[in-house]
Amino acid sequence: MVAKPLISALTGQAGSPVPIWLMRQAGRYLPEYRRTRAKAASFLEFCFTPDLAVEASLQPIRRYGLDGAILFSDILVLPHALGRKVEFVEGKGPVLEPLRSPEELDRLTLPAVRENLAPVFETLRRMRRELPKDVTLIGFAGAPWTVACYMVEGKGGGDFQGARRLAYRAPEMFARLIDLLSDATIDYLSAQVEAGAEALQVFDSWAGCLAEAELRRWSLAPLARIVAALKQRHPSVPVILFPRGAGVLYRDFALASGAAALSLDSSLPLAWAAEELQPRTALQGNLDPLLLVEGGEAMRQGAERILRILGNGPFVFNLGHGVLPDTPPEHVAELVDLVRGWKAPAPA
Ligand code: CP3
Repeated sequence: MVAKPLISALTGQAGSPVPIWLMRQAGRYLPEYRRTRAKAASFLEFCFTPDLAVEASLQPIRRYGLDGAILFSDILVLPHALGRKVEFVEGKGPVLEPLRSPEELDRLTLPAVRENLAPVFETLRRMRRELPKDVTLIGFAGAPWTVACYMVEGKGGGDFQGARRLAYRAPEMFARLIDLLSDATIDYLSAQVEAGAEALQVFDSWAGCLAEAELRRWSLAPLARIVAALKQRHPSVPVILFPRGAGVLYRDFALASGAAALSLDSSLPLAWAAEELQPRTALQGNLDPLLLVEGGEAMRQGAERILRILGNGPFVFNLGHGVLPDTPPEHVAELVDLVRGWKAPAPA
C-alpha cells in the first residue's frame, strides 16, 4: 500500500507535489462554517456535537481537497474535561476560571478525561469513515505550557505574565500542573489515535514568551516526554510539534524532542531551517497568515520562496500560524493551486 502524501512527508520522504493543509483551516472565514456554527448554542457545544464537528472538519476538504483534515475541536476542551470552567465569549475568546492555588490543582480529575471527551473520539471515528482515501486525519492537543497559560491566566490576549510569574514563584506547584497536563495529553492523544487519528500535532502557541531555561523546562522537556510515550504506544503515528516563537531553540527541538516534524512559525529564517533542521526532521510551514489575507503577487512570491528553499526535503506546506477570520476563501484556493503546481527543479 502506498502511503498517503502527508504521512509520507511527515515520515521523511520528499515528494511531489508537496502536501498541504492549513492550521485553523476550518473556521469563520468560510461562510459554510458560519452557518454550521449557528446551529450550536455555544462553541463548546459545537465541539461536543459530532454531527456539527464532522461537518466543520470536512468543509475545507470539500472546498480545497487538502491533504490533511484536522479534527474540529479546541485545545481548551482538555482543561474543561479536567473539571475547570471554560467558556468561549463571542468577540472576546476563551475565558477560564483562573487556577492559582495548589488546592485547585488537587481537584483536577485526570481519570475523567476519556469519558468527558467521548464526543471528540466519536467525531474522529466518523471522520475516518467519511474522508477521501488519500486524506490524512490529524488529531491534536495543546502543549502543557500553552494550556497552562490559559488555565492560570484565565484568558488570552496578553503575554501570560501571570503564568510566567507563577512558574518563577512556585516552580514545584507549576511542575505538578505541567506533569498532570502531560499525562492527560498522552492519554488524550492516544485515545485520538485509537479513534482513527493518523498523525498528531501538538500546539505550543505561546512557547515564544518563555526565557531560554524556562522554554527548555516547560515546553521542550514535557513535549519530549509526550512524544516518547506516544511513540511507544503508536510507533507508526508521526507527531508534529509547533513551538511557536522558539527561534534558534527550534534546533533543540530537532535534536531532542523526538518529533517526526516541526511546524515553523513565520519569523523563522528559511535558509537556516533548511540547513539546521531539515536534515534531522521533516518541516511544515510557514507562510505568514497575513499574506493569505492579502493574496495576489505578495502571496505568490512568499509561497514560492518557501517552496524553493524547503520544498526539496521532507516538507508539508502550511501557514506560520492559523488562518485569520478575514481571509478571502478564494485566496486559499489560489494558494493550493500554486503549491500543487510547483515542481522541484531537477538536480543539476
Ligand atoms: O481547523 C482547525 O484547525 C480547527 C480546530 C482548532 C480550533 N482551535 C478551533 C477554534 C484548532 C486546532 C484550534 C487550536 C487552538 N485553540 C490554539 C492553538 C493554535 C493557535 O491558534 O495558536 C489555541 C491557542 C486555541 C485557543 C482558542 N480557541 C482561542 C485563543 C480562541 C479565540 C480566538 C479565535 O480565533 O476566535 C479559540 C476559539 C476557536 N477555536 C475558534 C475556532 C474555529 C473560533 C470560535 C468560533 O468560531 O466561534
